[in-house]
Amino acid sequence: MAIEIVATGRAVPPNRVTNDDIAEKIDTNDEWIRSHTGIGSRYFAGENTASSDLAAEAAKNALAMAAGYTGGDIAERDRAAAEAAPAIDIIILATVSADYYGTPSTACIVQDKIGAVNAGAMDIAAACTGFIYSLETAAGILNINARRKKALVIGVEVLSKLINWNDRSTCVLFGDGAGAVVLEKKDSSDSGLQFSLLSADGSGNESLMIKRGGTRYPFKNGEVIDAADADRSICVGMNGQEVYNFAVRAITDTINALIKTTNINIDDITHIIPHQANSRIVQAASKRLQIPIEKFFLNIEEYANTSSASIPIALDEMNRGGKLKKGDLIMTVGFGGGLTSGGNIIIW
Ligand code: UT7
Repeated sequence: MAIEIVATGRAVPPNRVTNDDIAEKIDTNDEWIRSHTGIGSRYFAGENTASSDLAAEAAKNALAMAAGYTGGDIAERDRAAAEAAPAIDIIILATVSADYYGTPSTACIVQDKIGAVNAGAMDIAAACTGFIYSLETAAGILNINARRKKALVIGVEVLSKLINWNDRSTCVLFGDGAGAVVLEKKDSSDSGLQFSLLSADGSGNESLMIKRGGTRYPFKNGEVIDAADADRSICVGMNGQEVYNFAVRAITDTINALIKTTNINIDDITHIIPHQANSRIVQAASKRLQIPIEKFFLNIEEYANTSSASIPIALDEMNRGGKLKKGDLIMTVGFGGGLTSGGNIIIW
């Protein structure tokens, strides 16, 4: 039995924001952002767009591909997606920027938007490792019940609405977007998801957090939300250097552990798809592990850090760009808030 990725999709909002655009708003510049992060631009959602909107678009693109349609006509795509949606048994959606806190899950809203009327649906909160956790969760749910055949796994973020514009070291990092894959349980055994590593170090939970609005620090009646004040805002707060050091350690340790556990040779890996947080993190890992940088897929220059969405967006870009061939050995590796880290080994 194998759990295969049979289709991929992605969606970003139309508004592309360059570093120069950001520099018109805050004290920064293109040179600093590029040299410290590798980021050149990002996409920001409009006022009326929430995570479920981008997630549904990415899901429809993946479902249409599963039904055999990869063209650009939206009506055709919607028709193909609507045809494929009822066959989905479970939707797992990774996000830290849900439409609503707590309930309903964004996955449930997407289930309704795409007409996946026979699917269960739930969200996973594992920050930038969310898609990696979600793939393993979906595979487990398919495997445990013989009648379940197909899953939709989505990573989505609208981080632009949670950015603290008074903190220039974090506000330049994030972007919005969604990526989705359709998983199918098949009889073959030489392809699909082979192994996942899921790790956490909760002692670092304060290094990357959205502090307010939950049950630890709820808002009081009449309180004014003030983005400039970390103690009164619902924005993403990050200790950049602490997370940077964790990230380099996590990406290096995860790649080493995946190689060791699955007994593969580094030369056998066709592509490593890392979470796109900072190209310097990937360069540091490449150097430490003596893995050529060309093995790592990087698209952070275009999309910036889209947290849960970065790996599925990369997967779709590679897939639609003809970069993935049957039999390719693919490793994903992620790290982020929680602190969480992990990776998947997939044979395409
Ligand atoms: O996806 C989840 C995982 N997230 C990550 O992995 C992110 C990890 N962290 C990082 O990638 C890096 O720590 C950052 C990119 C966030 C920051 O880079 P850094 O090299 O650690 O910069 P820094 O915060 O130490 O700041 C260095 C200097 C400071 O100036 P002084 O004090 O040396 O004069 C900052 O004020 O750079 C300045 N600076 C900026 N200058 C222009 C910070 N942000 C900016 C900016 N534009 N946007």
